[in-house]
Amino acid sequence: MAENNENALAGKAPAKPKPASGGVYKPPVERQSSNPLKACCTTADIGEWFAERFYVVLPIIDYLKKKEVPKHRLSFWYYFGGLALFFFMIQVVSGLLLLQYYKPTEADAYASFVFIQKEVSFGWLIRQVHAWSANLMIMMVFVHLFSTFFMKSYRKPRELMWLSGSVLFVLCLGFGFTGYLLPWNEIAYFATQVGTEVPKVMPGGDLVVNLLRGGEAVTGETLTRMFSLHVVMLPGLLLLMLAAHLMLVQIHGTSTPIGYKERGLVKGYEKFFPTFMAKDAIGWMLGFGLIIYLSWVYPGEIGLKADPLSPAPMGIKPEWYFWAQFLLLKDFSFPNGEFIAIILVTAGAVFWALIPFLDHRASREEKSPIFTIIGLLYLAGLLINTYRVFAVYGF
Ligand code: HEM
Repeated sequence: MAENNENALAGKAPAKPKPASGGVYKPPVERQSSNPLKACCTTADIGEWFAERFYVVLPIIDYLKKKEVPKHRLSFWYYFGGLALFFFMIQVVSGLLLLQYYKPTEADAYASFVFIQKEVSFGWLIRQVHAWSANLMIMMVFVHLFSTFFMKSYRKPRELMWLSGSVLFVLCLGFGFTGYLLPWNEIAYFATQVGTEVPKVMPGGDLVVNLLRGGEAVTGETLTRMFSLHVVMLPGLLLLMLAAHLMLVQIHGTSTPIGYKERGLVKGYEKFFPTFMAKDAIGWMLGFGLIIYLSWVYPGEIGLKADPLSPAPMGIKPEWYFWAQFLLLKDFSFPNGEFIAIILVTAGAVFWALIPFLDHRASREEKSPIFTIIGLLYLAGLLINTYRVFAVYGF
């Protein structure tokens, strides 16, 4: 050690460490810096200043600068993942602002919503933005899910993008479900009662219902659970999954539909940064304009405060993105029908999530019309059932 110190003082490379008596390894005092930029730059340039401190990420930035996106007649569909991301960011910001005034208790939740809507400066706007952006985010996720499906973007090596996307999809629906109860109004209360009742028909379902509700019935305990899921657990899980999803997008780049390269249908490539991102930004600005327009022109009502003792109003239904499953449960209202419906929906979802591992033809870059037909059947089923609910109940 002393020898190393002397060498370091004399500006020499440290001598190879010798095991001290007793065989204990003592590390050299001085080490060569692994930062190639150390002390190479003046602090006059802010970019260089940061480069010296974050030199480890420079190769990643270089890699991203080289990233390119293929241009072809279906390139338009590449913007929907980014739009879902944009609406998610709006959700985070508007949600944090709402949290400044929202009180998650049975006694105060409704009153705090009325206060935000009527008393807080621009509170009404933030509330409407949060509600509309939630709907638009889920809509964009649906479009993104089906567009990546029909372009077979899930094929090798993007299987994990699809799987992480599938988890993101479930988390997004979870956000919608848990957020619905928070205003503690009549519709939300009874819709949550119906929604949390669903697992009851399954073996061991009572336990799940109890876990969701924090008891037998929908009460303030349920509100506490939905609130903690909505603002802590789901955002945490979504951020983790989103980080994995976006990292995989960067590693594997954007896919091209099967056969497009071979048939000369790819008209070239554009730089992700800045060209594609600039176009993304135009989409985000249009999306922001749309949210403000919808919030201004079609503000959602708060409704009446939930009264657990009053009878459920007529026409209780969940949010539009659950309509297809809601109708399936109604269609299957024969003995054990609801149980069969839940099995069907779960099996359908698991099959959908595993598609990259089942569609071997697509992974060999061959067309797989059977999977295209399966996708069309899923889409048609969703749209027809959603429309049927709309036709009976309206919005
Ligand atoms: C919060 C929800 C989600 C966000 C924010 C998100 C974000 C993104 C972004 C920004 C991209 C790159 C641009 C693009 O191709 O659109 C992407 C790609 C992709 N996403 Fe998502 N995504 C989400 C959910 C999903 C879902 C539900 C699926 C399907 C189950 C999915 C599957 C994919 C696939 C396969 C790609 C690669 C596309 C390609 O290479 O052509 N994502 N996602």
